[in-house]
Amino acid sequence: MVRVMFVCLGNICRSPTAHGVFEAKLRETGLAELVEVESSGTGSWHVGEAPDKRASKHAAKRGYDLSPLRAQQVQINDFYRFDYILAMDEANRRDLSEMMPEDAKAKLELFLSYTSLPETEVPDPYYGGDAGFEHVLDLVESASDGLLQEIKRALR
Ligand code: 4NP
Repeated sequence: MVRVMFVCLGNICRSPTAHGVFEAKLRETGLAELVEVESSGTGSWHVGEAPDKRASKHAAKRGYDLSPLRAQQVQINDFYRFDYILAMDEANRRDLSEMMPEDAKAKLELFLSYTSLPETEVPDPYYGGDAGFEHVLDLVESASDGLLQEIKRALR
């Protein structure tokens, strides 16, 4: 079993999008039983909430269902439970690295390290418009393909 956690600030826009997209790709490739996926936020403001309506709407247009997801906040224990903790931006990575125990099991990385696109961060779409949510999906789909290749290698 490989365990992956996607992390952003609020866990209502970017990381639930990554969660839904990556789970869909795991199902398509028959790997859903071998990989466990969760997402969380470094902040606690939205704990218990469903994903942002705009994130859900844009995801649904591409066939991804985010409706079962609920926001949670990263816990110290997550650094021992997960193999990959994937941050959406540098601020998320910095916050996570400050929390990360020295004997953590997880590999902490920027999610976009799994794409060859020039972008290194998934920009926060919360205060922007539709284009921001579409851009998040483009970046997340690309990095999910790269992560899938990495995990296939790890499972071999
Ligand atoms: P996310 O977006 O980190 O992609 O979930 C945000 C959601 C909420 C807030 C900031 C970013 N907020 O400040 O409430």
